[in-house]
Amino acid sequence: MIRHLTKISDFTKEECEKIIEKSVEIKANKEKYHNMLRNKVLLMIFEKPSLRTRVSFETGMTQLGGHAIFYSLKDSPLGKKENIHDTAKCASRYTDLIAARVFKREQIWELAKYSDVPVINMLDDFAHPCQILCDFQTIKEKKGRLENIKLSYFGDAKNNVTYDLMRMSAMFGITMDVACPDNVDYSPEKVVLDEIMELSKSSGAKINVIHDANEAAKVSDVVYTDSWMSYGIPAGEEEKRVKDFIPFQVNSKIMSIAKPDAIFMNCLPAMRGYEQTADVIDGTQSVVFDQAENRLHVQKAIMLFLLNMFK
Ligand code: CP
Ligand code: NVA
Repeated sequence: MIRHLTKISDFTKEECEKIIEKSVEIKANKEKYHNMLRNKVLLMIFEKPSLRTRVSFETGMTQLGGHAIFYSLKDSPLGKKENIHDTAKCASRYTDLIAARVFKREQIWELAKYSDVPVINMLDDFAHPCQILCDFQTIKEKKGRLENIKLSYFGDAKNNVTYDLMRMSAMFGITMDVACPDNVDYSPEKVVLDEIMELSKSSGAKINVIHDANEAAKVSDVVYTDSWMSYGIPAGEEEKRVKDFIPFQVNSKIMSIAKPDAIFMNCLPAMRGYEQTADVIDGTQSVVFDQAENRLHVQKAIMLFLLNMFK
């Protein structure tokens, strides 16, 4: 059966653990994996910009002995002269994996529906699963565990990264406070909250959406934030969003409320003075570049997993 990764909960907790373990192993033994995906081809479809995702997938595929194709939707007939069905069917005849970064979740679901090879979501408006696997690897490396972790998230909670962080925390039984403005435009959708509730039932996770940043920061092992201006948000909304989100900025006060050994994470790209202050992201508790590095190792593990190449 072909497996796809459209959101993190497409995988079980045990599968996520295996992928993280494999990523740690690849990171420590890069050479051992040099030819593992020889002659394999990854198609990367991009509708939005990217630094980390594009470069880590492309580098990862090269280092595994395969090839990655960057394909911008600007150069494609998709949505003009061609539909997703035909795109998926044709691309499946040439390539071994299809990864896509698109605006709408339905585009990923449709790709997965019609593709004859595994589809990887590289970010849509509903999920960013590759990011969250890398985040949990980073937490494990920095904290030595994934159990008994208090994670707090600050800012835009109607957000792809937040959604998968919540799903993964729910799967792993983690306590997570999501601090966001009391406004439907910035709060998680009901469909996500329902899924979180379901996933938490068996794991015992406690995921709360609250509107008090100081409260969320208490006893945090991990302080996490993401952009206030996600890709595609019109520039005209920036002024209002900055005003609305400023009470949820991660600054030295938030870090002082969290545990003294808390780490600071941001999936990046980051804007200093927006979702976090410069002293926080450039300070000693920040792990953002180790986090970004792990994208490379995790991408390799994800591709090997989806191609049934785990030993
Ligand atoms: N974190 C992340 O996905 O970064 P890019 O948008 O640069 O790919
Ligand atoms: N929420 C951000 C994540 C970037 C990796 C965005 O969608 O732009």
